[in-house]
Amino acid sequence: MTSTDAASFIRDHLPVMPVPGIPEIRLHKAAPSSGLGRLAARDAQGFGAPYWAHYWAGGLALARHILDHPDTVAGGRILDLGAGSGLVAIAAAKAGAAQVIAVDADPYAIAALGLNAALNAVPLDIRTDDVADLEPPDVDLILAGDLFYSDELAATVVAFLDRCGIDALIGDPWRRSLPLSRLREIARYDVRESGSATKSSGVFHFPARRA
Ligand SMILES: C[S@@+](CC[C@H](N)C(=O)[O-])C[C@H]1O[C@@H](n2cnc3c(N)ncnc32)[C@H](O)[C@@H]1O
Repeated sequence: MTSTDAASFIRDHLPVMPVPGIPEIRLHKAAPSSGLGRLAARDAQGFGAPYWAHYWAGGLALARHILDHPDTVAGGRILDLGAGSGLVAIAAAKAGAAQVIAVDADPYAIAALGLNAALNAVPLDIRTDDVADLEPPDVDLILAGDLFYSDELAATVVAFLDRCGIDALIGDPWRRSLPLSRLREIARYDVRESGSATKSSGVFHFPARRA
């Protein structure tokens, strides 16, 4: 499937909805009628887990925090790691970041990011990349919404942050692989992620380990 086909499917089948608890932002999100299974069937090789189609507790908390505390990003150059649908990146752009780079490894997330940036009328620098291979970016702050859902990805993200030596803000509902010993909790929010009752999610500072 080409990126144009993916974007057309998302535009036609994933309705635009206000984000729960974040009415400032609207996103294309999966609904019962979306038929993501049809999209997966058309692209058996390329279709992975459609994380970009759902709300994640960590991203919801981090986006809410950024919009409530725009000084955390205003005027800065920001990288949103594993950006998914773009919720956190869009929040940073709306809060006044000077530049927002949104990186994801999944080409479907890249298609969703393009549509959602246009929908919210914010400029995003959208890049397809794997965190494992990513060069340290020229940014002031790294944002990571809900990236600690497996030990392997958590280790990859921590190694990347240590390679960068740049402060990060992390949104996460205390998933098992969250590296708590490296984090300082700065806020917590009650959020509604897809398919779940209200749950609590933290926002954490990951201080840069400078060489
Ligand atoms: C649980 S979703 C969170 C999305 C978004 N940050 C949010 O909070 O709404 C995780 C995202 O990380 C991306 N991802 C997973 N492993 C990755 C990797 N190694 N490199 C880049 N992106 C990755 C997935 O494609 C997915 O979009």
